[in-house]
Amino acid sequence: MRSLLPFVSLALSAWNAAAQTTTTVSTAASGVATSTLITSAATGTSTLASSTSTAASAGQTPGFVNNGTVGSYPCAVANGLPALAGTTLADCPDALQPVYPYNAIDLRAPDDSLRASFLPAGAAISELWVKDRNGVFRDIVLGFDNKTNYGTDLAHPYFGPQVGRYANRIKNGTFTIDGETYHTPLNENGRDTLHGGFVGYDRSSYQITSLNSSAVTFALHDPDGNQGFPGSVIASATYILENNATWRIEMDARVTDHKKTPIMLSSHTYWNLAAYNGSQTVLDHIVHMPRVDKYIKTDQYLIPTGEIPSVNGTVFDFQTPRAFSERFNDTLGVCGGSCKGWDSCFVMSSHARDEPVLEVTSPTSGIKMSVTTDQDAIQLYTCNGIKGSRSLPRKRSQGGDGTTDAGKIYDNHSCVVIEMEDYIDGINNPQWNRNQIYSQHRPYHWRAEYRFSTVA
Ligand SMILES: *[C@@H]1O[C@H](CO)[C@@H](O)[C@H](O)[C@H]1NC(C)=O
Ligand SMILES: *[C@@H]1O[C@H](CO)[C@@H](O)[C@H](O)[C@H]1NC(C)=O
Ligand SMILES: *[C@@H]1O[C@H](CO)[C@@H](O)[C@H](O)[C@H]1NC(C)=O
Ligand SMILES: *[C@@H]1O[C@H](CO)[C@@H](O)[C@H](O)[C@H]1NC(C)=O
Ligand SMILES: *[C@@H]1O[C@H](CO)[C@@H](O)[C@H](O)[C@H]1NC(C)=O
Ligand SMILES: *[C@@H]1O[C@H](CO)[C@@H](O)[C@H](O)[C@H]1NC(C)=O
Ligand SMILES: *[C@@H]1O[C@H](CO)[C@@H](O)[C@H](O)[C@H]1NC(C)=O
Ligand SMILES: *[C@@H]1O[C@H](CO)[C@@H](O)[C@H](O)[C@H]1NC(C)=O
Ligand SMILES: *[C@@H]1O[C@H](CO)[C@@H](O)[C@H](O)[C@H]1NC(C)=O
Repeated sequence: MRSLLPFVSLALSAWNAAAQTTTTVSTAASGVATSTLITSAATGTSTLASSTSTAASAGQTPGFVNNGTVGSYPCAVANGLPALAGTTLADCPDALQPVYPYNAIDLRAPDDSLRASFLPAGAAISELWVKDRNGVFRDIVLGFDNKTNYGTDLAHPYFGPQVGRYANRIKNGTFTIDGETYHTPLNENGRDTLHGGFVGYDRSSYQITSLNSSAVTFALHDPDGNQGFPGSVIASATYILENNATWRIEMDARVTDHKKTPIMLSSHTYWNLAAYNGSQTVLDHIVHMPRVDKYIKTDQYLIPTGEIPSVNGTVFDFQTPRAFSERFNDTLGVCGGSCKGWDSCFVMSSHARDEPVLEVTSPTSGIKMSVTTDQDAIQLYTCNGIKGSRSLPRKRSQGGDGTTDAGKIYDNHSCVVIEMEDYIDGINNPQWNRNQIYSQHRPYHWRAEYRFSTVA
């Protein structure tokens, strides 16, 4: 039994004229926000126009698996309902705010091996349900039950979004292109730019440009000068749930004016492959990065020193599978200051496009994740400081109860962020020969596939 709430509806229209593409996406219950992204290939400009229109009814939404009900699998589960049945606001108080950009879009793989929920806010993944070794679905990504927290939470953990325009850190928020120096916000420790500045892509509202029951594409216009970056950029993230429990991500960006700009995108997803059921730590996870032969050395503020040493015999050596816990006590200081754990950029001198470059397994759930990608580096952050001065409540699907009581929060070293990307701060380390500068003649592409299976 599904309760139909007309909270989201999409009127998708798109046409390609010789030099102009217009995409209209309506995302409101009562016909408020309609945004139009107009891109002119001829003039190289992009604009966002807004208008008001009457939204279509939820039943008309193309491919909507849940027909626009409150999109929260955990709430359905918590209330003993079949996972794909709709639920109501009363069932699920923390999953309120079904309003753009915090409306959840629920998708599933055609063979139902994978279920996920995405938000236009930051193009974020808020739930990912995968079967454990007993065939029971677990939600293995971190997030907020209260969806508006994605846009407002002061701890600002970057739960699950596309990060950009330039992921990871930029030393002193400074870079130079063709002799011109640019400054971006110092939003981390007052020393560097992290994930694109104070209002990075994660805090931006995307438009839905394509949607069916197993895939969604979000797009964003990032104007010239935004957060100090030169050039107008249109970025997108496409999430596809495929058979055999495969989450495929395609990210693209193109510069729409005549400027040059650094671009580095990534998916900033937090993982706990046990979903906090039976294990409260990520340190028991087995990690294998067969192609990672080097790592980028960083200072106490996690800014690269310029050196890229061999991982051999160090705490960065995951060329053979080992649990994080095995060398955890030897990591003191490598993640900045006096903390333990990793917040590190692992480098691959070479790898094939279709070979798994990262495998992570939870011995508790038996869930194994294998990642293939076109990127050459892997940033891993083992949640060394996720429990800082503020505590983040766990989602109900992960044993939370909406409070920040002990045992109900996301604790230090209970999760791992994985970012497939290019070398951290390559724009300030020309000796590495990474070309991270893009123009209208050089579009940006990012690809990765996350495959899930189980081990005994
Ligand atoms: C829900 O959406 C599906 C697919 O669009 C459609 O076949 C079905 O009739 C809808 N159900 C209701 C109750 O509107
Ligand atoms: C934990 O996982 C087990 C086995 O898959 C399942 O039976 C149980 O219901 C889960 N517990 C919770 C609290 O989700
Ligand atoms: C959700 O969080 C917002 C702040 O982002 C807060 O105003 C609201 O009261 C919260 N809703 C619930 C049900 O806790
Ligand atoms: C560091 O950034 C500040 C402010 O953004 C700028 O004034 C200064 O020139 C930069 N220093 C270096 C060495 O780039
Ligand atoms: C949904 O869209 C994706 C991405 O465009 C495509 O690969 C897939 O075949 C589509 N699925 C259906 C059921 O139309
Ligand atoms: C499904 O995935 C598993 C593990 O990733 C792989 O061994 C198997 O060959 C895949 N099956 C199909 C039909 O692709
Ligand atoms: C690291 O170890 C591997 C395998 O033992 C070896 O082939 C490689 O030469 C070593 N690299 C360095 C830089 O010592
Ligand atoms: C690290 O060392 C402490 C103190 O000796 C010990 O209690 C803890 O179990 C060790 N942790 C790991 C993951 O080995
Ligand atoms: C978690 O890490 C932060 C930052 O390192 C630290 O301030 C805090 O005390 C840690 N919390 C616990 C419970 O160890």
